Amino acid sequence: MIHTTNKVRIAVLGAGLIGRRHAEHVAGEATLAAIVDPAEAATTVARDLAVPLFASLEALLAVDKPDGLIIATPNQFHLPHGLQAIEAGIPVLIEKPIADSVDAAERLVQAADAADVPVLVGHHRRHNPLVDEAKKAIDAGRLGRVVAAHTTFWVHKPADYFDVAWRRQPGAGPVFINLIHDVDLLRYFCGDVASVQAVESNAVRGNAVEDTAVILLKFKTGVLGTVSVSDTIAAPWSWELSAGENPAYPPTSVASTMIGGTLGSLSIPDLGLWSYDGAPSWWQPLQRQSILPAAADPLVLQIRHFADVICGRAEPLMSGREGLETLRVITAIKQAAQTGQAVGIG
Ligand SMILES: NC(=O)c1ccc[n+]([C@@H]2O[C@H](COP(=O)([O-])OP(=O)(O)OC[C@H]3O[C@@H](n4cnc5c(N)ncnc54)[C@H](O)[C@@H]3O)[C@@H](O)[C@H]2O)c1
Repeated sequence: MIHTTNKVRIAVLGAGLIGRRHAEHVAGEATLAAIVDPAEAATTVARDLAVPLFASLEALLAVDKPDGLIIATPNQFHLPHGLQAIEAGIPVLIEKPIADSVDAAERLVQAADAADVPVLVGHHRRHNPLVDEAKKAIDAGRLGRVVAAHTTFWVHKPADYFDVAWRRQPGAGPVFINLIHDVDLLRYFCGDVASVQAVESNAVRGNAVEDTAVILLKFKTGVLGTVSVSDTIAAPWSWELSAGENPAYPPTSVASTMIGGTLGSLSIPDLGLWSYDGAPSWWQPLQRQSILPAAADPLVLQIRHFADVICGRAEPLMSGREGLETLRVITAIKQAAQTGQAVGIG
């Protein structure tokens, strides 16, 4: 029986770039039950954290049933690993994207519903206090009626980032790898997406995937969205560089997302709330109020939340179904760019 958060035993599957960070945070916030990864490099991770190492999920489940499992393996393994965890009745946090296709994501969501096993998806930004504050301001009507939203994701990835073959091939690209987080946030703030249009280009890098794309989103609420994404622009305007979530990125202090309403606008992640003292008019001075809360690491908060879900103290903030809906939008964006047609969702 589980009594407290730090007694919850969570195993981490896949000890790569993000899995190692999860393992460290689990060790700090709960009990790290095991690392599962067949790669030689995982030996060091398990030894440093003083936990058992298994080469496969089957091998772990043969001898142990952790209270929770984090799946941080490559995208194509999210479906088989997720199904194994669900079948074993183990609540699971699956890294984003929930799966490598909408079909696979639907299978995961259906299996979780049928077995009544909680599934969370690693869109960790939703656990960031500044996202929570922005959401509260929007939902409280401080912007009035939301009219439009804009996100810029402009970064310059160094050439050696593309030495890894899969990063140059379909299934990768900044829309699928990075923009999925931004699109998820726009969905969180503005609701479900009704349709998308998109154009993309690979003119600078010449890889099989886009290096740049421009996207139009129409939300079911009537809000209109614009998004510009590129991994070949030297610029400060991206969540990665401006939100300060990952110490590996030298920070900038500019906004990457703007939400505009009839009474005011919000710049994110710096959380400047722009509004008028009286009735809105472009002849009057705009006031900027900072509503930025104290910073906290969303990956750590995500682990605490996962522990609460395991203990039955919370419902998933970022559920499998939400992960599926965000993946539907990303898939529709790719389809719209390929066909040149608007693509409806749902
Ligand atoms: N939330 C985020 O911001 C974020 C950031 C990075 C990656 N991710 C996601 O996390 C996942 C992993 O990405 P990454 O960059 O850490 O990849 P990675 O290649 O660095 O790590 C993947 C690890 O999985 C291991 N692995 C492969 N097959 C396995 C198996 N059958 N069983 C157990 N382990 C296996 C590999 O040995 C490797 O150590 C991807 O889905 C990615 O999209 C999310």
